[in-house]
Amino acid sequence: MSQKVSLTRYLVEQQRVDGLIPAQLRLLLEVVARACKHISQSVNKGALGDILGAAQTENVQGELQKRLDIIANEVLIEANEWGGHLAAMASEEMDSIYVVPNRYPQGEYLLLFDPLDGSSNIDVNVSIGTIFSVLKKPDNSAGVSEQDFLQAGARQVAAGYCVYGPQTTLVLTVGDGVAMFTLDREQGSFVLTQEHVRVPADTKEFAINMSNMRHWDEPVRRYIDECLAGQEGPRGKDFNMRWVASMVADVHRILTRGGIFLYPWDKREPNKPGKLRLMYEANPMSWLIEQAGGAATNGRERILDLQPTKLHERVSVVLGSKNEVERVTSYYAAL
Ligand code: AHG
Ligand code: MN
Ligand code: MN
Repeated sequence: MSQKVSLTRYLVEQQRVDGLIPAQLRLLLEVVARACKHISQSVNKGALGDILGAAQTENVQGELQKRLDIIANEVLIEANEWGGHLAAMASEEMDSIYVVPNRYPQGEYLLLFDPLDGSSNIDVNVSIGTIFSVLKKPDNSAGVSEQDFLQAGARQVAAGYCVYGPQTTLVLTVGDGVAMFTLDREQGSFVLTQEHVRVPADTKEFAINMSNMRHWDEPVRRYIDECLAGQEGPRGKDFNMRWVASMVADVHRILTRGGIFLYPWDKREPNKPGKLRLMYEANPMSWLIEQAGGAATNGRERILDLQPTKLHERVSVVLGSKNEVERVTSYYAAL
């Protein structure tokens, strides 16, 4: 890449040349990127910044919140509420939706986020991230309600994440493939570092929390058993395993070099469809993966086709290299 392309320029060209995004959506994505830059600064300060450790509160999932979960949530809200591009926001860290206050103009978009993904990795200095999904508010609705958010992932108009790792990288789709932007700290801007990201259809690397093996159901057990059997087994090749415990980092690896990620339903909480959240984790990640040529299912159905019934709904997730995801889906179908 001879000339550096900033995120701003990339978005302007998506708007002007390709007509892919309206001005309001461009502003929204710039503001989200700015908030991610702010969160990245806080993350980098670590113990020097008074950001580590637990807060004494729980979120709607009953999980103990970390201080950085709350800080990141506030940064995203404060950055986004005044610009006139949003009608409301929803977050893993808020029980109900946050409607843009009356003192600001209301826009036509809805923003959902997992402000800090991989919370268990904050204090141990391992990669974490922010995940976001953008929907359009349905035309016919006056005001804004939780119901307006309950749209299938296939209706997203933008989705992405920012990974705070050795580098801070913003990964984005507006439905025209996946692009990656690396934060240039000297310039203070995100610079386009990869376009047209592709996930290879085959892989020899899987990501799953193996400590839950005894709780899995049959198709997942069969798939992983076959991977573990390696060259001598039915797959005829050795597999490698990675598990960061930050979905952002695991998905980033898969977008970079392929692989399959599973967080399946398991018997620990049989009444819940899975651990991960549909609307602000699975949907944006599934769209990115599909846009890069991969696949994403809950074992049986395409994640992006699932009709959400509530904001904090959970879901099983199998995503990544297409042929591997299809293999898992075929094992479920064979039940
Ligand atoms: P969050 O920190 O937003 O609650 O998400 C954590 C999620 C996801 O990022 C990761 O893949 C998974 O939880 C890790 O789960 P285990 O603790 O079972 O490894
Ligand atoms: Mn998360
Ligand atoms: Mn989170």
